[in-house]
Amino acid sequence: MRIDVVTIFPDYFTPLALSLLGKASATGLIEVRVHDLRAFTHDRHNTVDDTPYGGGPGMVMGPQPWGEALDSIAATNKDVRPVLVVPTPSGAVFDQGAAQAWTTDPWLVFACGRYEGIDARVAQHYVAASDWAGVREVGIGDYVLAGGEAATLVMVEAVARLLPGVVGNESSVTDDSFAAGSMAQLVEGPVYTKPQEWRGLPVPEVLLSGHHGQIADWRAGQARLRTAQMRPDLAAESATGQQGGRQV
Ligand code: ADE
Repeated sequence: MRIDVVTIFPDYFTPLALSLLGKASATGLIEVRVHDLRAFTHDRHNTVDDTPYGGGPGMVMGPQPWGEALDSIAATNKDVRPVLVVPTPSGAVFDQGAAQAWTTDPWLVFACGRYEGIDARVAQHYVAASDWAGVREVGIGDYVLAGGEAATLVMVEAVARLLPGVVGNESSVTDDSFAAGSMAQLVEGPVYTKPQEWRGLPVPEVLLSGHHGQIADWRAGQARLRTAQMRPDLAAESATGQQGGRQV
Protein backbone atom coordinates (compact mmCIF):
# COMPACT_ATOMS: atom_id res chain seq x y z
CA MET A 1 0.00 0.00 0.00
CA ARG A 2 1.22 3.47 -0.82
CA ILE A 3 0.60 6.21 1.76
CA ASP A 4 1.27 9.91 1.13
CA VAL A 5 0.93 12.56 3.83
CA VAL A 6 0.73 16.30 3.22
CA THR A 7 1.43 18.47 6.27
CA ILE A 8 3.10 21.68 7.42
CA PHE A 9 4.92 19.54 10.02
CA PRO A 10 6.77 16.74 8.18
CA ASP A 11 8.80 15.98 11.34
CA TYR A 12 5.58 14.88 13.02
CA PHE A 13 5.83 11.66 11.00
CA THR A 14 9.26 10.43 12.10
CA PRO A 15 7.55 7.77 14.29
CA LEU A 16 6.49 6.02 11.06
CA ALA A 17 10.12 4.86 10.73
CA LEU A 18 9.90 2.99 14.06
CA SER A 19 8.72 -0.44 15.14
CA LEU A 20 6.10 -2.32 13.14
CA LEU A 21 5.53 0.38 10.51
CA GLY A 22 9.24 1.05 10.10
CA LYS A 23 9.75 -2.64 9.36
CA ALA A 24 6.76 -2.65 6.97
CA SER A 25 8.38 0.26 5.09
CA ALA A 26 11.78 -1.43 5.04
CA THR A 27 10.30 -4.63 3.60
CA GLY A 28 8.15 -2.79 1.05
CA LEU A 29 4.74 -3.76 2.49
CA ILE A 30 3.97 -0.05 2.72
CA GLU A 31 5.55 2.91 0.97
CA VAL A 32 5.21 6.17 2.92
CA ARG A 33 5.97 9.59 1.40
CA VAL A 34 5.66 12.74 3.50
CA HIS A 35 5.30 16.14 1.78
CA ASP A 36 5.69 19.67 3.15
CA LEU A 37 2.65 21.74 2.13
CA ARG A 38 4.76 24.92 2.28
CA ALA A 39 6.83 23.63 -0.65
CA PHE A 40 3.73 24.33 -2.78
CA THR A 41 3.40 28.01 -1.84
CA HIS A 42 4.79 30.85 -3.96
CA ASP A 43 5.09 33.81 -1.61
CA ARG A 44 8.07 34.89 0.52
CA HIS A 45 6.45 33.78 3.74
CA ASN A 46 5.20 30.40 2.45
CA THR A 47 1.70 31.31 3.54
CA VAL A 48 -0.81 28.46 3.81
CA ASP A 49 -3.69 30.19 5.63
CA ASP A 50 -5.90 33.25 5.52
CA THR A 51 -8.85 34.81 7.36
CA PRO A 52 -12.23 33.07 6.97
CA TYR A 53 -14.84 34.53 4.59
CA GLY A 54 -17.84 35.54 6.64
CA GLY A 55 -15.67 36.41 9.63
CA GLY A 56 -15.10 34.46 12.81
CA PRO A 57 -12.11 33.29 14.81
CA GLY A 58 -8.94 31.64 13.55
CA MET A 59 -7.55 31.03 10.09
CA VAL A 60 -8.46 28.71 7.22
CA MET A 61 -5.98 26.85 5.01
CA GLY A 62 -6.24 28.13 1.44
CA PRO A 63 -6.99 25.86 -1.52
CA GLN A 64 -4.03 26.87 -3.75
CA PRO A 65 -1.15 25.00 -2.07
CA TRP A 66 -3.42 22.01 -1.39
CA GLY A 67 -4.43 21.78 -5.05
CA GLU A 68 -0.83 21.92 -6.23
CA ALA A 69 0.41 19.44 -3.62
CA LEU A 70 -2.34 16.90 -4.29
CA ASP A 71 -2.09 17.21 -8.09
CA SER A 72 1.68 16.65 -7.93
CA ILE A 73 1.18 13.52 -5.82
CA ALA A 74 -1.47 12.05 -8.14
CA ALA A 75 0.80 12.74 -11.13
CA THR A 76 3.49 10.40 -9.76
CA ASN A 77 1.42 7.34 -10.70
CA LYS A 78 -1.20 7.59 -13.44
CA ASP A 79 -2.05 3.86 -13.18
CA VAL A 80 -3.58 4.01 -9.69
CA ARG A 81 -6.25 6.40 -8.40
CA PRO A 82 -5.54 7.57 -4.85
CA VAL A 83 -8.15 8.09 -2.12
CA LEU A 84 -7.95 11.46 -0.39
CA VAL A 85 -8.35 11.21 3.40
CA VAL A 86 -9.08 14.45 5.24
CA PRO A 87 -8.91 14.07 9.04
CA THR A 88 -11.43 16.38 10.68
CA PRO A 89 -13.43 16.22 13.92
CA SER A 90 -16.52 16.92 11.79
CA GLY A 91 -16.05 13.76 9.73
CA ALA A 92 -17.57 10.28 10.02
CA VAL A 93 -15.95 8.30 12.84
CA PHE A 94 -12.99 6.12 11.85
CA ASP A 95 -13.25 2.73 13.59
CA GLN A 96 -11.88 -0.81 13.26
CA GLY A 97 -14.40 -1.57 10.48
CA ALA A 98 -13.08 1.40 8.49
CA ALA A 99 -9.47 0.35 9.14
CA GLN A 100 -10.28 -3.13 7.80
CA ALA A 101 -12.12 -1.76 4.77
CA TRP A 102 -9.26 0.59 3.88
CA THR A 103 -6.73 -2.27 3.71
CA THR A 104 -7.92 -2.97 0.16
CA ASP A 105 -7.16 0.58 -1.05
CA PRO A 106 -3.87 0.59 -2.94
CA TRP A 107 -3.14 4.27 -2.25
CA LEU A 108 -4.19 6.64 0.54
CA VAL A 109 -3.27 10.34 0.60
CA PHE A 110 -3.75 12.10 3.96
CA ALA A 111 -4.29 15.89 3.96
CA CYS A 112 -3.46 17.20 7.43
CA GLY A 113 -5.31 20.43 8.13
CA ARG A 114 -4.37 22.88 10.89
CA TYR A 115 -6.09 25.98 12.27
CA GLU A 116 -9.84 26.00 11.54
CA GLY A 117 -9.43 23.49 8.70
CA ILE A 118 -9.01 23.42 4.92
CA ASP A 119 -11.11 25.50 2.49
CA ALA A 120 -14.13 23.27 1.74
CA ARG A 121 -13.60 23.54 -2.03
CA VAL A 122 -10.57 21.23 -1.79
CA ALA A 123 -12.71 18.23 -0.75
CA GLN A 124 -15.41 19.35 -3.19
CA HIS A 125 -12.92 19.43 -6.08
CA TYR A 126 -11.32 16.03 -5.41
CA VAL A 127 -14.67 14.26 -4.93
CA ALA A 128 -15.37 15.07 -8.56
CA ALA A 129 -11.80 14.59 -9.89
CA SER A 130 -11.63 11.62 -12.28
CA ASP A 131 -8.02 10.76 -11.40
CA TRP A 132 -8.93 10.35 -7.71
CA ALA A 133 -10.86 7.42 -6.19
CA GLY A 134 -12.81 9.52 -3.69
CA VAL A 135 -12.59 11.70 -0.60
CA ARG A 136 -13.08 10.50 2.98
CA GLU A 137 -13.55 13.12 5.68
CA VAL A 138 -13.04 11.28 8.96
CA GLY A 139 -12.60 11.96 12.66
CA ILE A 140 -10.87 9.63 15.10
CA GLY A 141 -13.06 10.52 18.07
CA ASP A 142 -15.25 13.14 19.67
CA TYR A 143 -12.53 15.58 20.73
CA VAL A 144 -10.64 18.32 18.91
CA LEU A 145 -6.94 17.99 18.14
CA ALA A 146 -4.67 20.83 17.04
CA GLY A 147 -4.50 19.38 13.53
CA GLY A 148 -4.85 16.27 11.41
CA GLU A 149 -1.30 14.97 12.04
CA ALA A 150 -1.94 12.91 15.17
CA ALA A 151 -5.16 11.55 13.64
CA THR A 152 -3.23 10.54 10.51
CA LEU A 153 -0.65 8.65 12.59
CA VAL A 154 -3.49 6.82 14.32
CA MET A 155 -5.23 5.87 11.07
CA VAL A 156 -2.03 4.84 9.28
CA GLU A 157 -1.09 2.54 12.16
CA ALA A 158 -4.60 1.07 12.47
CA VAL A 159 -4.74 0.27 8.74
CA ALA A 160 -1.13 -0.81 8.17
CA ARG A 161 -1.06 -3.36 11.00
CA LEU A 162 -3.97 -5.16 9.31
CA LEU A 163 -2.10 -5.58 6.02
CA PRO A 164 -0.98 -9.17 5.48
CA GLY A 165 2.57 -9.68 6.74
CA VAL A 166 2.88 -6.50 8.81
CA VAL A 167 2.11 -8.22 12.14
CA GLY A 168 4.04 -11.50 12.48
CA ASN A 169 1.26 -13.53 14.09
CA GLU A 170 -1.96 -13.19 12.04
CA SER A 171 -4.22 -14.28 14.90
CA SER A 172 -3.03 -11.43 17.10
CA VAL A 173 -4.83 -9.20 14.59
CA THR A 174 -7.96 -11.35 14.11
CA ASP A 175 -8.44 -11.65 17.92
CA ASP A 176 -8.29 -7.86 18.41
CA SER A 177 -10.90 -5.85 20.23
CA PHE A 178 -13.58 -4.85 17.67
CA ALA A 179 -12.20 -7.36 15.13
CA ALA A 180 -14.67 -8.38 12.43
CA GLY A 181 -16.10 -11.90 12.38
CA SER A 182 -17.64 -12.13 15.81
CA MET A 183 -21.37 -11.52 16.25
CA ALA A 184 -20.92 -8.87 18.90
CA GLN A 185 -18.59 -5.88 19.03
CA LEU A 186 -16.42 -6.80 22.01
CA VAL A 187 -13.28 -5.50 23.66
CA GLU A 188 -10.65 -8.03 24.68
CA GLY A 189 -10.47 -9.38 28.21
CA PRO A 190 -7.37 -9.49 30.46
CA VAL A 191 -4.10 -11.18 29.46
CA TYR A 192 -1.33 -12.71 31.61
CA THR A 193 2.23 -13.99 31.30
CA LYS A 194 4.91 -15.37 33.66
CA PRO A 195 5.37 -15.51 36.61
CA GLN A 196 2.38 -17.62 37.69
CA GLU A 197 2.10 -15.51 40.85
CA TRP A 198 3.13 -11.88 41.20
CA ARG A 199 2.87 -9.89 44.46
CA GLY A 200 0.40 -12.44 45.75
CA LEU A 201 -1.77 -12.23 42.63
CA PRO A 202 -2.22 -15.56 40.80
CA VAL A 203 -2.94 -16.09 37.11
CA PRO A 204 -6.52 -17.43 36.68
CA GLU A 205 -6.38 -21.24 37.08
CA VAL A 206 -8.19 -22.04 33.82
CA LEU A 207 -5.35 -20.50 31.76
CA LEU A 208 -2.91 -23.04 33.23
CA SER A 209 -5.21 -26.01 32.53
CA GLY A 210 -4.20 -26.64 28.91
CA HIS A 211 -7.93 -27.10 28.14
CA HIS A 212 -8.32 -25.15 24.89
CA GLY A 213 -12.13 -25.27 24.88
CA GLN A 214 -12.43 -24.08 28.47
CA ILE A 215 -9.85 -21.35 27.89
CA ALA A 216 -11.72 -20.09 24.81
CA ASP A 217 -15.02 -20.06 26.76
CA TRP A 218 -13.42 -18.23 29.68
CA ARG A 219 -11.89 -15.62 27.38
CA ALA A 220 -15.23 -15.08 25.62
CA GLY A 221 -16.92 -14.58 28.98
CA GLN A 222 -14.24 -12.13 30.12
CA ALA A 223 -14.61 -10.17 26.88
CA ARG A 224 -18.38 -9.89 27.43
CA LEU A 225 -17.86 -8.85 31.05
CA ARG A 226 -15.25 -6.23 30.19
CA THR A 227 -17.40 -4.86 27.35
CA ALA A 228 -20.38 -4.51 29.70
CA GLN A 229 -18.20 -2.78 32.33
CA MET A 230 -16.11 -0.48 30.16
CA ARG A 231 -18.21 -0.03 27.01
CA PRO A 232 -21.90 -0.18 27.85
CA ASP A 233 -22.54 1.54 24.51
CA LEU A 234 -21.14 -1.50 22.65
CA ALA A 235 -22.90 -3.96 24.95
CA ALA A 236 -26.22 -2.20 24.24
CA GLU A 237 -25.52 -2.28 20.49
CA SER A 238 -24.86 -6.01 20.44
CA ALA A 239 -28.00 -6.65 22.55
CA THR A 240 -30.12 -4.81 19.99
CA GLY A 241 -28.24 -6.27 17.02
CA GLN A 242 -27.07 -2.83 15.89
CA GLN A 243 -23.87 -2.63 13.88
CA GLY A 244 -21.47 0.19 14.71
CA GLY A 245 -21.62 3.69 13.29
CA ARG A 246 -21.80 5.16 9.81
CA GLN A 247 -19.61 3.52 7.14
CA VAL A 248 -16.59 5.71 6.24
N1 ADE B 1 -8.43 17.18 13.61
C1 ADE B 1 -8.73 17.78 14.78
N2 ADE B 1 -9.41 16.96 15.59
C2 ADE B 1 -9.56 15.77 14.91
C3 ADE B 1 -10.17 14.54 15.20
N3 ADE B 1 -10.80 14.31 16.36
N4 ADE B 1 -10.11 13.57 14.29
C4 ADE B 1 -9.50 13.78 13.11
N5 ADE B 1 -8.91 14.94 12.78
C5 ADE B 1 -8.93 15.93 13.66
